[in-house]
Amino acid sequence: MKRDIISVFDMKDDLTDILDLAARLKAGEKYTPVLQGKTLALIFEKSSTRTRTSFEVGIYQLGGHSVHLNQHESQMGRGETIEDTAQVLSRFADCIAYRAFSHEDVCTLAANASIPIINALDDLEHPCQIVADLLTIKEHKQRLQGLKLAYIGDGNNVCNSLIIGCALMGINFAAACPEGYLPDAEIIAQAQQLAEKNGSTLQITTDPVVAATAADIIYTDAWVSMGQEEQAAEKEQLFAPYQINAELVAHAQKDYIFMHCLPAHRGLEVTPEIIDGPHSVVFDEAENRLHAQKAIMLTIIDH
Ligand code: CP
Ligand code: NVA
Repeated sequence: MKRDIISVFDMKDDLTDILDLAARLKAGEKYTPVLQGKTLALIFEKSSTRTRTSFEVGIYQLGGHSVHLNQHESQMGRGETIEDTAQVLSRFADCIAYRAFSHEDVCTLAANASIPIINALDDLEHPCQIVADLLTIKEHKQRLQGLKLAYIGDGNNVCNSLIIGCALMGINFAAACPEGYLPDAEIIAQAQQLAEKNGSTLQITTDPVVAATAADIIYTDAWVSMGQEEQAAEKEQLFAPYQINAELVAHAQKDYIFMHCLPAHRGLEVTPEIIDGPHSVVFDEAENRLHAQKAIMLTIIDH
C-alpha cells in the first residue's frame, strides 16, 4: 500500500527512523542513486525557494528526477480537477509533492492518486519543515526529549506541525500567539495525548514571556502567511508584542537557539540582531530541508 505524508501525524511510528536516516544521509555520500529512474512531480500553487529547490536537488542526488508544474502552466490552473490530475500523474510519476492553498485539496490529491503524496505546505501543516527542524535541534542540542521549544507568533501551519513533532519527540512545547491566531484546536487536542504519553508538556498562551522563559529553542515564522496578504496591516500592530528581540530572548536559556522556517521579515517577527546573531541556526535549518526530504522520499517511494 502507498504511504502519504500529509501531516506530521503520518510519521508517528517512524519519525525517529526518518530523522536518523536524514542524519546518515547528511553525513554520508551526497549522491546515492537508490531512486534511479524514479520521478517526483512537484505541484506548487504558491511561491517557494527552499521546498522546491530541496526536493529537486534531493531527488536528483538520489538518482531520480523531477517535473515541476505550476498553477499557470498546468491544466489545473484552467480548472482540471484535482481528482483527474491525481490519476494522470499517477501514470507518469512515482511520487508527488504538492504545495496547496487548501489542506482539503492535498487530501483529495492523496485520495485519488495511486502514488505517495507529500504535503509540501498547505494552510494547516508543513510536515517536511518539521523533520528538518527536529534534525537541526538534534544537531545543536544533541537530544530532543526534555527540551523546551517556544513558538512565538502566528499559530499557523508551521506552528501546527511543530506541535505534533514536539509531542512525538517529547519536547516541551509552548506557543504564544495573539487571541484569534491560536493554533488548530483539533491538532492541539490530539497532540496533547501524544505529549502525555511521551512525557512532555504542551502549553498555549497569549503571553510571549511565559513561552520564552527557560526555552532552549525560540522559534518564529512570518506573521502573514502566503494567501493572507490582505491581513498584513492589521496583523503588524497586533503581533508587535510577539517580535523576537533582545528583550524577549533574555528570558530564554543562555544557550538558546533561534529558529525560523524562512522566508523572514527582519524588523517584523524578528530583529536583525537576533536572526543574524550568534544564536541563530536558520541556515542550518534551511540546509536540513534537503536531508530531511531525501529521508522522507527514501521512506515512502518504492525502490
Ligand atoms: N520554509 C519554506 O518552506 O520555504 P519556501 O517557501 O521557500 O519553500
Ligand atoms: N507560514 C508560512 C510558511 C512559509 C514557508 C506560509 O504559509 O506562508
